[in-house]
Amino acid sequence: MDEAVGLPDFCRRLPKVELHAHLSGSVSETTIQKLQVKKGVGHEGLQGDTAIGKGETRHLQEPFRIFKIIQDLSDTEESIFMMTEDVISEFAADGVRYLELRSTPRHMPHTGMTPQSYVESILSAIQKCKDREDVVVRLLLAIDRRQSVETAMTTVRLAQEYMLRSPGVVVGIDLSGNPAVGDGRDFIPVLKEAQNCGLKLALHIAEISQQAVAPETSALLSLPPDRVGHGTFIHHNQDLAAVVADRKMPFEICLTSNVKAQTVASYGEHHFQHWYSRKQPCVLCTDDKGVFCTTLSEEYRLAAETFGLTRPALWDLSYSSIDHTFVGEDLKQQLRDRWNTEKEKLFLQTR
Ligand code: IMP
Ligand code: ZN
Repeated sequence: MDEAVGLPDFCRRLPKVELHAHLSGSVSETTIQKLQVKKGVGHEGLQGDTAIGKGETRHLQEPFRIFKIIQDLSDTEESIFMMTEDVISEFAADGVRYLELRSTPRHMPHTGMTPQSYVESILSAIQKCKDREDVVVRLLLAIDRRQSVETAMTTVRLAQEYMLRSPGVVVGIDLSGNPAVGDGRDFIPVLKEAQNCGLKLALHIAEISQQAVAPETSALLSLPPDRVGHGTFIHHNQDLAAVVADRKMPFEICLTSNVKAQTVASYGEHHFQHWYSRKQPCVLCTDDKGVFCTTLSEEYRLAAETFGLTRPALWDLSYSSIDHTFVGEDLKQQLRDRWNTEKEKLFLQTR
């Protein structure tokens, strides 16, 4: 490959799969401004910044403060629709050709938004983008660890209903939220119910050091999940690492998110290196591209520069990510065909 095409440009042109993107955390500064205008709130009305800039790191609690600000700004069906449209367009412009968004259905009695209308607003935006944007989009409904088991069960029922009605756009369940709060074991019966009705599971696991020894981690891994979100401290515990390795569980890797939220000390010390060198499936993702001021292309560039990955290695990383999407074999094959067509073009353009 011709080195004349710079690495950032190569990473942008590379067709990519994004599998770990929270809707509220993915919202860009421009969209936040639109939300503020809609709600009639000035920037001075926001309690602090809504993003963690280049070179900055903050304690993990900080992103959770920011999510709350964005969620408060988006309390109507109209705003959820607009956010979703914008986020999809931005991922598409960055060369993402397959996107799994995830979001926590919310009930906002003061505006009349219900968990149902929340999900329907996202699905309408996905439908609207279908013909306009060059990206296939799927949706996971999220359970926040702060929620009651009852609310979590309602989310699973909603996902089940919309999996059949959408059809096929809702594909799974995410377990997320502040890892310092609650006990993931409470949600095991709910997550089992999701599995039983054919929903896939992408779970945030061992995001903070205490979870390397917490009983919830082995309980969640034994479900087993279809993908592990972060899994930052799994390799600190040999037994957990063995479970993950034996089952070849794919890791959703979010380099910038982990460094900026200070769960990983530096890019060079990221657990991606540990797992990638052992041939564990790894998928590069953004987590919250708005809050952490990143893009998926930037995450590929950072992986290349930090871990010395060649361009063919970046290609392979992107191509193999298709295996870990929550879609059927037919669509996976269509995506692989698409990738192969783009590969030729990419190589021709850069010869
Ligand atoms: P939403 O579900 O679309 O509103 O996206 C924001 C939500 O995603 C937050 O309130 C958290 O529950 C979850 N979230 C985003 N990033 C993280 C993370 O890094 N760890 C755990 N949960 C997260
Ligand atoms: Zn996440």
